[in-house]
Formats: sequence, structure tokens, C-alpha cells
Amino acid sequence: MNSIIAIVLAYLIGSISFAVVVSRLFGLSDPRTYGSKNPGATNVLRTGNKAAAALTLLGDGFKGWLAVWLALTYQFQFDLSDSTVAMVGLAVFIGHLWPVFFKFVGGKGVATALGVLIGINVWLGLGTFATWLIIAYAFRYSSLAALVASLFAPFYYALLFGARIELLAVVIMSALLIYRHSQNIANLMAGKESRLGSKKKDAA
Ligand code: G3P
Repeated sequence: MNSIIAIVLAYLIGSISFAVVVSRLFGLSDPRTYGSKNPGATNVLRTGNKAAAALTLLGDGFKGWLAVWLALTYQFQFDLSDSTVAMVGLAVFIGHLWPVFFKFVGGKGVATALGVLIGINVWLGLGTFATWLIIAYAFRYSSLAALVASLFAPFYYALLFGARIELLAVVIMSALLIYRHSQNIANLMAGKESRLGSKKKDAA
């Protein structure tokens, strides 16, 4: 029973879309209506409001970290297995992708996945974030950086911990993240993907 409660709670935490909440607080348009229509930090940045984008990134990352941190901190008190902790990480991520509070229209999961990885292990999170930064700096594509980082994350996990149950959660998370970037992949291949820092005319 505790496991089900933990997983459902994680899903609910993940369902809070900070892109939508922060945009409302800042009086910006709903991010699901402009740019890539993705409720995520990259799309909020297209309004030109860096503070709102940073807050979205922090909020979406924080919720991923929080769910895993809570599960790990109370793992023994509530008799949660390692598989449950892995499922909690996956559940908060899935909540972000298909949020119950926003008609199941969620984001692509980059910030939340990063939060989950930091929650599992800070070096795992930092290594993945460093990968994102290097690719983003070199190519100026947020999506490409996320795709490359998500490919590396399972390898970083395996290097640090070997083949544990959490590795499966990290692999599934990466696979879902790549799936959610299908349109970005098509745009990248067609040379139509917008670069970091470029604003959308219809974003405000
Ligand atoms: O944060 C998601 C990012 O990787 C791509 O976002 O808005 O360019 O589709 P976007």
C-alpha cells in the first residue's frame, strides 16, 4: 500500500506544470499556445523572459528531485523497496509528460529528468547536466542537448552503480524523453529547429 501511495504522490507532484504556473504568475501567454507549444523552460524562454524560463527550469527540476529525495529519505520508515524508489522517479517524470491537472498535455521532461537524476545521485545529475551544457553551448539547440544527454545518462548510471533496478528507470526515462522529442528530431534533420535564444514572434 505504501508503495502505491508513494508512486501516486510522485505522479501528482510531477503533474504540476511549472511552465504553465510560472507563465500565469508572470502574466505571459500559455506556453502551450506558441513556439513549440511545449510547456517547458525552453519554450518559455522564447517569450524573452529569462526569469520566467529559469523559474520553470528550477520548478520542473525541483519536483523531480523532491519526489526521489522523499522516497529515499523515507524508504526504510515506510518500507519502500528499491523498485518502488525507481518507480517513484519514473512516476514523477510521467506526471510531467502526462499531467492529470492539465488534461494530460505535458512537457518533454528534460528538467524533471535532470531533477530525478540529481535525486538519485548528484554526480549522475551533474554529469548529465554537463553533457547538456556542452552540447547546448556548442550547437545552440536545447533539444539536441537534451537528446544527447539522455543517451549518456544510462551509461553514467551504469558506470557509477552497475546494473541496478534504477538503471531500468533511467533507460525508460531516456526512451520516453527521446520519444517526446520526435518533432524536434524531425526539425533538426530538416534544419528547421529553432536555436536557443531565438524568440518566436507569437510568444509574449
Ligand atoms: O525542454 C525541451 C527541449 O529539449 C525542447 O523544447 O520547446 O524546443 O521543443 P522545445
